[in-house]
Amino acid sequence: MAGRQDHWNSVYRGRSEEELTWFEETPSTSLKLVRLYLKPGDNLIDIGAGASRLVDALLDDGFTSLSVLDLSGSALDLSRERLGTRGDSVEWIEADVTSWRPRRAYAVWHDRAVFHFLTQGDERQAYANVMAEALQPAGVAIIATFADDGPEKCSGLPVVRYTSEGLAQVLNSLVPGKFEMINSRRHVHITPKGNRQSFQYSVFRRKHP
Ligand SMILES: C[S@@+](CC[C@H](N)C(=O)[O-])C[C@H]1O[C@@H](n2cnc3c(N)ncnc32)[C@H](O)[C@@H]1O
Repeated sequence: MAGRQDHWNSVYRGRSEEELTWFEETPSTSLKLVRLYLKPGDNLIDIGAGASRLVDALLDDGFTSLSVLDLSGSALDLSRERLGTRGDSVEWIEADVTSWRPRRAYAVWHDRAVFHFLTQGDERQAYANVMAEALQPAGVAIIATFADDGPEKCSGLPVVRYTSEGLAQVLNSLVPGKFEMINSRRHVHITPKGNRQSFQYSVFRRKHP
């Protein structure tokens, strides 16, 4: 996994925000979905957050219990520098999601453009196990990936593309009966260079044990 960490650290060290294809000035679709499910005082974790501004917007909303996880310490540094003292209340976690052990229970798990990098079955299995462990009963996971008509690579790495239905089937095969899909939508992301990238966003609720 060191190779991947090096890849992502050099991406974030070597390029400005606007040079990252996945950059969003305002992460509108994520925000709309998070606001539907996150209540004041709830714990949220942004998985593979990179230098995303989702955490800024949620702090602006008044949410106080936010965790941000990424494999790349350089990405986390960018967000910490941008937020300054506003970021002091955020829990910053440098980790590979597939081998991370959650220390608290989350009401909302958000992942935009991370799960789709898991091209191996054992990585997807590990991710699903961690997600099931991290979410409180009735907690929700918002997972955004490239859609079936989206790009085949992201940041030079191969990805797996999904429809919402396909993602639900994969999740159910990994952790049978643990999640139900409660919402989904498609979104066309316009990259800073003006290219169109098709995403799907799916929301899964963790069933009561
Ligand atoms: C395409 S970027 C998306 C960043 C952010 N979610 C956004 O929407 O702006 C993918 C991010 O996933 C992180 N990442 C990739 N594999 C990871 C893993 N196994 N565990 C944690 N983070 C990972 C990368 O460091 C990178 O920041």
